[in-house]
Amino acid sequence: MMRELLLIGIGAGDPDHVTIQAVAAINRFDVLFLVTKDGTDELVALRRAIVARHRTTGPYRAVELADPPRPWRDAPDYRAAVAHWREQRRDVWGAEVRSELADGQTGAFLVWGDPSLYESTLAVVAELADDTITYDVIPGVSAVHALTARHRIPLNRVGRPVLITPARLLAGGLPDDVDDVVVMLDAGTAFATLPPDGLTIYWGAFLGTEDELLIAGPLGEVAGEIVRVRTEAKQRKGWMFDTYLLRRER
Ligand SMILES: C[S@@+](CC[C@H](N)C(=O)[O-])C[C@H]1O[C@@H](n2cnc3c(N)ncnc32)[C@H](O)[C@@H]1O
Repeated sequence: MMRELLLIGIGAGDPDHVTIQAVAAINRFDVLFLVTKDGTDELVALRRAIVARHRTTGPYRAVELADPPRPWRDAPDYRAAVAHWREQRRDVWGAEVRSELADGQTGAFLVWGDPSLYESTLAVVAELADDTITYDVIPGVSAVHALTARHRIPLNRVGRPVLITPARLLAGGLPDDVDDVVVMLDAGTAFATLPPDGLTIYWGAFLGTEDELLIAGPLGEVAGEIVRVRTEAKQRKGWMFDTYLLRRER
């Protein structure tokens, strides 16, 4: 008994981010697993639209996987809360994959951006895989590269490192030894809490979509505008996806 899973990176929002390798994978699966959670109907609809646009090999079966609640924002032990959530996902998804995929069939997850970047889908699938379930990863255009392309900037400066970090780790300020920091998963406006001297920000929200917003400039000059534009967009859409690069001039 063998089943195959494909983790297909679909890019950060623009349907044209989907690679030819991803299109081939979209045409190969039998079952599409769609992870659903409150407030992300738009993302589920977008995944279905990507399949509708690129699939020419006929109908497929879609199986929705309800995501367990994410309690960790208030959890006293963040790591333990995330580990528990991942276990729940592994058990639920593992059971579904085993019951929904017949011998020799292929299932797929369409993963936002690139499957290797701030995504637990890959870690969960790696855990549920066993001798009877194989998996492969198809890379995608990440929000990081969507951001740098839209601002037409290199990600790194010559010979220098880059840090990619969740916003919650910025609380203590930028690390001393890194001058280029990409911030993701910002539930608020962490950039506005930093001392702005010497920092330039390249900010992008809903990159690659019709709602795309781009603002760049010295942090001290544009932080207020970003907060205003971001708050307004979040209210209008009901959710927010933004990424930014903070660059320290020395
Ligand atoms: C769970 S992570 C997924 C990242 C994804 N795997 C990638 O490669 O971009 C979600 C975060 O990615 C960033 N992000 C994803 N898509 C974005 C977009 N279209 N515009 C701006 N930021 C985006 C935001 O920082 C968001 O909080």
